[in-house]
Amino acid sequence: MKADKIVFATGNADKMREIRMIMADLGLEIQSMKEAGVDADIVEDGKTFEENAVIKASAIAEELGKKGVKAVVLADDSGLEIDYLNREPGIYSARYMGENTSYAVKNASLIKRLEGVPDEKRTARFVCVIAAVFPDGRKFTTRAAIEGRIGYEERGQNGFGYDPIFYLPEYGLYSAELEPEEKNRISHRGKALEEMKKVLKQERL
Ligand code: IMP
Repeated sequence: MKADKIVFATGNADKMREIRMIMADLGLEIQSMKEAGVDADIVEDGKTFEENAVIKASAIAEELGKKGVKAVVLADDSGLEIDYLNREPGIYSARYMGENTSYAVKNASLIKRLEGVPDEKRTARFVCVIAAVFPDGRKFTTRAAIEGRIGYEERGQNGFGYDPIFYLPEYGLYSAELEPEEKNRISHRGKALEEMKKVLKQERL
């Protein structure tokens, strides 16, 4: 079934900019939920990034379906996995210590929990899953990660969330020290979106 456009289930302007850049050559209109005139109260009660991304995309797809709009809906779910903490905070990254707790406090807490832990045990990754729900109900997911280590202090002014404590040994820099274009090029979200673009092309969207 041919879709008329892509709708990305996010309210985040940075994510919209990134997806527009990456998906531009598909030649399809790309809208945010707001631009598509839909919203939904979504409870992310999945146990994996995949489940949560599909929950978000499906909820918006259902709303668009009610309006008779034939769109492919994309949604993302992402987070930070720290090996030493049994992959915490994982799918709870945004909710770690409470949704309204500042990242200065969350980051300080994670550094404290890793006190005395040597470099080789500080391994961590940002994970991103992109889900696609087609108008005929077919669902696909892609996953990508960027590997790094939890640093010993906060560094850098760019990025958001856990970027100031995420050290990238290959670059000798913290994630929050990368220029935005550079981060998009190597990030978990950028890579998962590129993978999803391949799926959309393959499915002759
Ligand atoms: P969501 O997928 O937008 O719900 O976000 C998940 C959470 O994971 C964010 O609120 C951040 O705490 C964290 N996170 C995901 N990606 C990144 C990143 O690129 N840098 C820093 N933190 C991130």
